Amino acid sequence: MTAGAGSGAGTPVEVWWARIGQARAEFAADLDAVEQARFAAYVRDEDKDRFLLGVTLTRRVLGRRLSLPAAKVSLDRTCEECGKPHGKVRVAAGVELSVTHSGDLVGVAFGDRPLGLDVEKVDPQLDVDAVARIALSAEEVQELQRYGGIAKARAFTAYWTRKEAVVKATGAGLRGDLRAAVPAGIHVQELAVGADHRAALAVVTAEPPVVQVEDATQLLS
Ligand SMILES: CC(C)(COP(=O)(O)OP(=O)(O)OC[C@H]1O[C@@H](n2cnc3c(N)ncnc32)[C@H](O)[C@@H]1OP(=O)(O)O)[C@@H](O)C(=O)NCCC(=O)NCCS
Ligand SMILES: [Zn+2]
Repeated sequence: MTAGAGSGAGTPVEVWWARIGQARAEFAADLDAVEQARFAAYVRDEDKDRFLLGVTLTRRVLGRRLSLPAAKVSLDRTCEECGKPHGKVRVAAGVELSVTHSGDLVGVAFGDRPLGLDVEKVDPQLDVDAVARIALSAEEVQELQRYGGIAKARAFTAYWTRKEAVVKATGAGLRGDLRAAVPAGIHVQELAVGADHRAALAVVTAEPPVVQVEDATQLLS
């Protein structure tokens, strides 16, 4: 499904959020062999839970769309660089998605154009000035000087998630140039996720997308 040329309507994007406490052991039954291996390899319970929630949101949302049980949705995680199963998730032509997890939140965005979703927990201990020099443009560094303390960490994290969302949308990953301006043809916006985290969505589209935010409580119950 693509928005008709000249229709004026932005491309639709659905963003689903779950909280880490919503993970349940029984979700693991729907994982495929590749996902079972990734799940087993995580050492910390919270990493297991975030991965499990990302997979479960992906499988349940797509399962509903495709009228398939979650376990029957076929996902390709092959890394285009090295062939290991840790890359951007691909499902079928015309279906684009992006998974993100940090702190208490797990999110998945679905659309019909390449897109990137990123969430980061705000770290109050972060040495903002040190990381800002590596990740931000001169203008952005300047802008950050207006803030202090936790507000500065939040402002930096907002910039960071925007940049990560862009490199996730283009597929460049962290090797993309974070200090560069957003390339033409990519729309980036911040998503409100509460004071403890910052989140952003980037979509490869000229017009602002029509974003629908969904709470996963029912989907995960
Ligand atoms: C992708 C990347 C930006 C993720 O950033 P992060 O903030 O640490 O983690 P997030 O939770 O937001 O995102 C992780 C998810 O991004 C997706 N992802 C992985 N690689 C991706 C890529 N190159 N582009 C877009 N999305 C990617 C995956 O779905 C992954 O979650 P999952 O494995 O649980 O499904 C970062 O890890 C990166 O740049 N990775 C690739 C770098 C690289 O060298 N790749 C080659 C490896 S051989
Ligand atoms: Zn790889």
